[in-house]
Amino acid sequence: MQTHALVDFFRDHEREALRAFYEFPVVWHEQAYGFAAVDGEETVAAGSLYVAASLGQVERLIVAPERRRSGIGRAILAEMAEVANYYNCHKMTVMVPHERSAQRFFEACGYGVEAVLPQHTFKLDMAMMRKYLL
Ligand SMILES: CC(C)(COP(=O)(O)OP(=O)(O)OC[C@H]1O[C@@H](n2cnc3c(N)ncnc32)[C@H](O)[C@@H]1OP(=O)(O)O)[C@@H](O)C(=O)NCCC(=O)NCCS
Repeated sequence: MQTHALVDFFRDHEREALRAFYEFPVVWHEQAYGFAAVDGEETVAAGSLYVAASLGQVERLIVAPERRRSGIGRAILAEMAEVANYYNCHKMTVMVPHERSAQRFFEACGYGVEAVLPQHTFKLDMAMMRKYLL
């Protein structure tokens, strides 16, 4: 199938399919946002947030190894929550390896484990974490 045929098919059917899937009329809007922390000329951390369906999903958050444990990650995460809140998200989510250091970081930032998906990414148990915003 040609790419344009796929694009046309999705355009023609997406709205009805979303309604059938969620069982209510859905107006889908999605947006990605980038974040960075800079020290002079140097970028020391970056993150990306995906906002859709009233959810703010932390997609990536990376602090340069030599800059860790100085509050940068927490500060970027707080900015992500502000953006998500502005766009009427009711909660933030992120998926991390269960019982590993990233989970400790998000717990320290007020996130809780909502579910554990066994043998998920790379067959690791993964924790779906969340923080309510409203
Ligand atoms: C996870 C990560 C973003 C944290 O960034 P950071 O700037 O080091 O975090 P902060 O300094 O803001 O830490 C805030 C609190 O989280 C907790 N925390 C952070 N890193 C931790 C770790 N490795 N182990 C346990 N707790 C940790 C601590 O309670 C910390 O407070 P404290 O330093 O006063 O004890 C960073 O370690 C990183 O880039 N890791 C690799 C990529 C990754 O795992 N990203 C997250 C998934 S998207």
